[in-house]
Amino acid sequence: MSEFIDYVRSLPKAELHLHIEGTLEPSMLMELAKKHQVDLPYSTAADVERAYDFEDLQSFLDLYYLGASVLIDEDDFYSLMFRYLERCRDEGIVHTEMMFDPQTHTERGIGFSVFMRGFGRAIEDAKGQWGQSSSLIMCFLRHLPEESAFETLKAAEPFKSQIMSIGLDSSELGHPPEKFERVYAAASLQGYRLVAHAGEEGPPAYIVDALDRLKVERIDHGVRCLEDPELVERLVKTKTPLTVCPLSNVRLCVFETMADHPIRQMLKRGLNVTVNADDPPYFGGYLLDNFEALHRELGLTMEDARQLAVNSIRSSFIDEASCAGWLDQLSVPTP
Ligand code: HPA
Ligand code: ZN
Repeated sequence: MSEFIDYVRSLPKAELHLHIEGTLEPSMLMELAKKHQVDLPYSTAADVERAYDFEDLQSFLDLYYLGASVLIDEDDFYSLMFRYLERCRDEGIVHTEMMFDPQTHTERGIGFSVFMRGFGRAIEDAKGQWGQSSSLIMCFLRHLPEESAFETLKAAEPFKSQIMSIGLDSSELGHPPEKFERVYAAASLQGYRLVAHAGEEGPPAYIVDALDRLKVERIDHGVRCLEDPELVERLVKTKTPLTVCPLSNVRLCVFETMADHPIRQMLKRGLNVTVNADDPPYFGGYLLDNFEALHRELGLTMEDARQLAVNSIRSSFIDEASCAGWLDQLSVPTP
C-alpha cells in the first residue's frame, strides 16, 4: 500500500456523505435475493457489476432502488450497517454521519421498526466493540410528494433519539428545494440538524435555495456552485461545508474524468470541501479509494489530505470536546 494511502488512513476523518443503502455490495445483493427469493434480472454478482455503467444520476438511482429491494428483515439492515462500520474502522473514519432512505422501505411495506432496530443494533455493537462514533441522517426522496415527506417525519417520531439530521436525496432536476420548504421548517422545529443534496446535477440556484429556503447547514455535493462566482464567495465567507464525492461525480458523468474534477481548485479557493464515498460499490470505491484516485489523477498532496480531514471533522455534528480532540491529532505535520 502506498505511503500516501497509509498516511490518509492514519488521519482521523469523518465521512459525512454516505448512503447506507448504497453500501450494498453485489455479493450481498445476490445473497439476500436468494435468501428472500427476490427475482432479479441478474444471475451473478459479476452481472450486477456489469450493470454499474451509468450515464446520469437517474440511471444510477434505478439500479440503487432495485438493489434496495432485497433488504427485508432486521438482520439484513444490521449486516449492511455493520459491514460499513467495519470499513470505517479499517479506513480511519473515526466518525460517520450516514444517510438512509426510509421511503425506499416503507413504500414496500417495511416499517421503521424493522430498519431502525437493525441499524441501531449495528451502531451499538460498533460503538461497543471499537468505539465507533456515528449518527444518522434521515433523507426524504425528492421525487416523491411533500405529503410523503411529512408522513415520514411523523413515522420517525418514535425513533427520534436515533436520528440527528434530515437530508434530501434522489432525482434532483425538476425537484427543487422549495418543494420541501415546509417539511424542513417542521423538522427544524423538532430539533433536527439540516442538510440537503444540491448542485450535483441541479443548477447553482438550487444551492442558494437549499441555504435560504431550507436553511441547511451543509450542502451535499454542491460542485456546480463553481458556475456562480457570487455563490462561491458566499460559501467561502460562511465556511459552508460541501460534501464532495469525487468517484461518484465521475461515474455519474458530472465530470468526464477524475483529471477534470475541480476539488483542488475548490480547496485553493478556500471552499470548505470534504471528500466522501456516496454509494461506494456502485461508484468504484470507499473513502480511501476516493483519496487514492485524487492522488493518482489530480496530484492531491498529503497536506491537501490533511486539510480535507480537518474540514471533515470541523463540518461534522459531533460534540465540541470530541471535535477538539480529533483536531488536536490532526495538527501533526505531514511527513
Ligand atoms: N444523489 C442523489 N440521490 C442519491 C445519491 C446521490 O448521489 N445517492 C443515493 N441517493
Ligand atoms: Zn449522495
